[in-house]
Amino acid sequence: MRRLLHRPRRLRRSPALRNLVRETQLSAYDFVLPLFVSQKLERRRPIANMPGVFQLSLKEIADEAKRAQDLGLQAILLFGIPEKKDEQASGAYAENGVVQEALKAIKSKCPDLVAITDVCLCEYMSHGHCGVTRIDGDHFHVLNDETVELLVKTALSHAASGADLVAPSDMMDGRIGAIREALDADGFDQTGIMSYAAKFASVFYGPFREAAESPPQFGDRRSYQMDYANADEALLEVALDIDEGADIIMVKPALPYIDILWRVHERFGKPTAVYHVSGEYAMLKAAAGQGIVEERPAVFEIMTALRRAGADIIITYWARELAEWLRE
Ligand code: PBG
Repeated sequence: MRRLLHRPRRLRRSPALRNLVRETQLSAYDFVLPLFVSQKLERRRPIANMPGVFQLSLKEIADEAKRAQDLGLQAILLFGIPEKKDEQASGAYAENGVVQEALKAIKSKCPDLVAITDVCLCEYMSHGHCGVTRIDGDHFHVLNDETVELLVKTALSHAASGADLVAPSDMMDGRIGAIREALDADGFDQTGIMSYAAKFASVFYGPFREAAESPPQFGDRRSYQMDYANADEALLEVALDIDEGADIIMVKPALPYIDILWRVHERFGKPTAVYHVSGEYAMLKAAAGQGIVEERPAVFEIMTALRRAGADIIITYWARELAEWLRE
């Protein structure tokens, strides 16, 4: 055979050589662990189809956060399930609301842990939509500006309870600017915003809606979340959120949108997060449970792919296991 000048396989001969030229590394610092806390529970409750994920009680939440920190994680993302829902989502911005109480407990036990809060109204609305709705005959509308007002109140109350970053996931127009302005005006100029900037209307949120008790009671979320066919529009959404003051931008879900992730990171060079969502988690868990794929190497392959595609931060239900595996 002709003498080859280039033999890429030379560098794949041994584990040490492969490690030497590995371009993408994982660290526990890359991951954010989502935690669900319920005002209705005394003890933890498992979530169907999401093995290893629980709704936690307010009593346990600080210990659970501490456990994550002890494993080497640095950040959690909090979702609240309130005692009661209504048409104004009043539980979302109540002074003694579930997220507010959880934050105080977590921050007194783990002051250095980065506490991120999901800012959305769907868990607190009796109809399960992410905003204030108006019904006209057969149609319903989610009212943008009325919703933004409630989101601002929610973000402010999270900041006042100790949130390091607030993460609006509702997809209303103009909410980042409105939240940034209100935070600054109230002396929370050090509270950051992680914006769910390109959030697609996705079937992969299914298992989450049980975890957060937030399925819409009528209609769907396609009038506010993005059409999965659109990429240019995703870039526009991200550009607007950056312009309005987002510190971190997010693409969600993860694997089906890896092209968007790549383009967002390349174009904006801002800290970029990706949310590997409940349905993505549930699918692999189900496959692994049946012996179809091996869980741990599959998780490493997915997480490395997301980092390679430009994610600085990965929100994943595997964060705890990943921190453990990376320590071995
Ligand atoms: C709330 C919200 C959702 C998710 C995060 N924040 C659900 C939705 O938009 O319906 C999904 C997370 C997941 O599936 O893991 N609006």
